[in-house]
Amino acid sequence: MQRARAQVDEALDRFLPTAAVCPGVVNEAMRYSVFAGGKRLRPILTLAAADAAAAPHGHGSRDAGRIDALRLALPAACAIELIHTYSLIHDDLPAMDNDSLRRGRPTLHTIYGDGIAILAGDGLHAEAFTLLAREPQPAGDDPTLAARKLRVIQAIAEAAGPGGMVGGQVIDLQAAGQVPGSLLTLDRDGLRQMHSRKTGALLRASAVCGAIMSNAPAELVDAVDRYASDLGLAFQIVDDVLDVEGTSEQLGKTTGKDAAAAKPTYPSLYGLEASRALAMEYADRARRVLADAGLMSSHLPGILQWVVSRRS
Ligand code: IPE
Ligand code: IPE
Ligand code: MG
Ligand code: MG
Ligand code: MG
Repeated sequence: MQRARAQVDEALDRFLPTAAVCPGVVNEAMRYSVFAGGKRLRPILTLAAADAAAAPHGHGSRDAGRIDALRLALPAACAIELIHTYSLIHDDLPAMDNDSLRRGRPTLHTIYGDGIAILAGDGLHAEAFTLLAREPQPAGDDPTLAARKLRVIQAIAEAAGPGGMVGGQVIDLQAAGQVPGSLLTLDRDGLRQMHSRKTGALLRASAVCGAIMSNAPAELVDAVDRYASDLGLAFQIVDDVLDVEGTSEQLGKTTGKDAAAAKPTYPSLYGLEASRALAMEYADRARRVLADAGLMSSHLPGILQWVVSRRS
């Protein structure tokens, strides 16, 4: 995971625009948030899924296939991290969760003001799609590359949009009474659906796009999708649990915010003990998917283990 994180950080720096092509302040603001020290789970998942799909199916020698898979998946990995970072910048705004700490730093809007924070988020969102359209460029003769890139663009746009992350954030605001005239009361099923959208969708797209860029067969893409869907739920349940029992120092963000804002969360609907057990249950389901798909020797089970045991 450390090696993948370093590859992603290096590529993000390379892929992001420079101050030469945009006003300096928005360039600085975008980089402030992107390089604030996120865990990089989503791009790590993209690279791991690409590697898992390439290991048995790569062309040429096994190692050459895997190295090529990483090259092909790196732009999608970075694009998703840009979208994720934009979602965090907007999530922290006074109009949403009104948070002052993120990734161990003051939130972007507290430094640059709300206007620049909104625009830096918008800028990262657009940059993600510029990157996906531009990279990877064909190396040699690869007639299917353009088609794969298009599938990835569609998967990421759908996951980020109103049917995915944005939709989940809308439900989150409605459930917290932050949308005038449309209060939502979530039962357990509603909570699961909100989590699958606001966090699960982008995590699913992360894994699926890695597999697509590796030219994985449909059954493998589907297995990776089901794995990431359960991993996504486990991840957001743990996020809710850590909001209750973690510390700001460990998490790099303010804790106790969900209860203060009266948000429906797994701990608030199920209690802490049952929430931890549910996260484990989702992880077990994801592990079974991997076992059935013959993916247990990839990096995917280790990432799952990290998701449920993480303290930050
Ligand atoms: C936080 O995501 C927001 C959620 C979707 C739960 P991460 O916990 O992955 O945040 P970073 O990227 O490491 O900062
Ligand atoms: C945010 O969920 C999910 C996003 C799409 C950004 P949270 O509001 O729980 O994320 P944190 O706890 O602030 O990181
Ligand atoms: Mg939120
Ligand atoms: Mg938040
Ligand atoms: Mg949270």
